[in-house]
Amino acid sequence: MGRTGGSVAAACLRIFLAAICVVALICGGDGTSGAPYVTMRPHERVSSQPQAEPLPTLVSDMLDRAVGAPGGYPMTLTAHVGDHRVNASWTYIDGLPGLNMQVDSWLLGVLDAAAPAGSRYRPAMALNALQPLNQEMTVSAAPVQAAGTIVVVREKVKSSGTNGTGSVRSATVYVDTVTGQLRSGAELLRPESVPGIQSRITGVPADIAAPSQQEPPVTDLLLSPSGELTVTAELPGGPGRQVSMTMSAGDARAALSDYGRHVLGQLNAAAVPRPATAPALRHVNCDIVPCAALTYDDGPDARTTPQLLAILAERKAQATFFMTGSNTAANPSIAKQVADAGYAIGNHTYSHPYLTKLPIPAVKKEIERTDAAILAATGSTPAMMRPPYGAADAAVQGAVGKPLIIWAVDSLDWQSKNPAAFVPKVLKEITPGAVVLMHDVQPTTIAGQQELISTLQGQGYRLVSVPQLFEGTPLIPGHVYRSRPARP
Ligand code: NI
Repeated sequence: MGRTGGSVAAACLRIFLAAICVVALICGGDGTSGAPYVTMRPHERVSSQPQAEPLPTLVSDMLDRAVGAPGGYPMTLTAHVGDHRVNASWTYIDGLPGLNMQVDSWLLGVLDAAAPAGSRYRPAMALNALQPLNQEMTVSAAPVQAAGTIVVVREKVKSSGTNGTGSVRSATVYVDTVTGQLRSGAELLRPESVPGIQSRITGVPADIAAPSQQEPPVTDLLLSPSGELTVTAELPGGPGRQVSMTMSAGDARAALSDYGRHVLGQLNAAAVPRPATAPALRHVNCDIVPCAALTYDDGPDARTTPQLLAILAERKAQATFFMTGSNTAANPSIAKQVADAGYAIGNHTYSHPYLTKLPIPAVKKEIERTDAAILAATGSTPAMMRPPYGAADAAVQGAVGKPLIIWAVDSLDWQSKNPAAFVPKVLKEITPGAVVLMHDVQPTTIAGQQELISTLQGQGYRLVSVPQLFEGTPLIPGHVYRSRPARP
């Protein structure tokens, strides 16, 4: 048994003597055992047998058991970041922007830290990143408890290399689903009870451990509805070696802060339902996932638009429809079908003219009549527009009163009328952040969508609506947009 095993045994004994129920010890590999992680119970010895793939299940992994939080929806990402292949999975929750932003900044921090020195993570690193690399990193953030007004999200980073080394770090975040307020796991505890718990879990007595000894913070706390408290923390002496213990409800009660007692009460209440967000407006972070916005112009069409809706629904792809006022007035039920399915809709003028050739009052009339037709059909006024042929000048931009969404990739689907031509063209020209122009009124365009969408998704693209693509960057009336600007 190496040095690590010895200190683990000492920690184990001390915790055992402290009459605390030790659930498990989880250690980063010490480079000699051949196993990236070793799981141990108090009465077991650390295994020195080399372990074959796959990695043994960590006991702290059991704490990751995700629960369905109201309004929650999952995201995944596989990326090559520096020497690491990163497999990330996380959950956003509708209507909790503070939580979603916290998850995003934590995730971006992990990804940036894995990027080579002097560079930052880019969504393009998550394209075609299936092949394994020497180092594997598993990143997760998922609700592990949801009750009353409380959702608890456990964030964890586990990394391993081929030389037997590994590390694991985790934290819990508490969010109030009514106020949106975020708290860290440590806030469950009275500040004065933290050093004692820290010393019990790490095996370093509180009176010996000098404050300067850089005690790793206790950040991963989970309270059960019956009041037991499971604390997972890093052991001193190196990052990534973790220990978990569960305190009895009696011991835990004495350590809880007012907030901790509030959480305990909520964990025994039914989860509060949350209002749903339209799918096209759900939070996605296109600085993290490689996004593309497929857009379809000139509809709605009674025959082809429903065919496209069926493909998009089956592929779980978001999209944006730039409708003309005349086709909306002719097919209001199809426009409503698009809106009811949650897709984004933009104004594409009434009669599809070159706006640059019209007097300004006529430009305004084109926009207003289309707004009215779309409002009558769908119940909502579009917040963005696309000028036919992409034709706009300063006067037009000033007159339309909405952001102008042009495109970065022109499929020329209307010209080739051939999926074998436009699908490869889009695949060749697309990059993360791009707006792609197509036309749902063309039967040949519909014929190419299954292949185009499944290929893009297979490469790692997340197909989003235009509002999702630009989330976090303002869309200003009169300004022209073609693609999402990259993170500086
Ligand atoms: Ni058009």
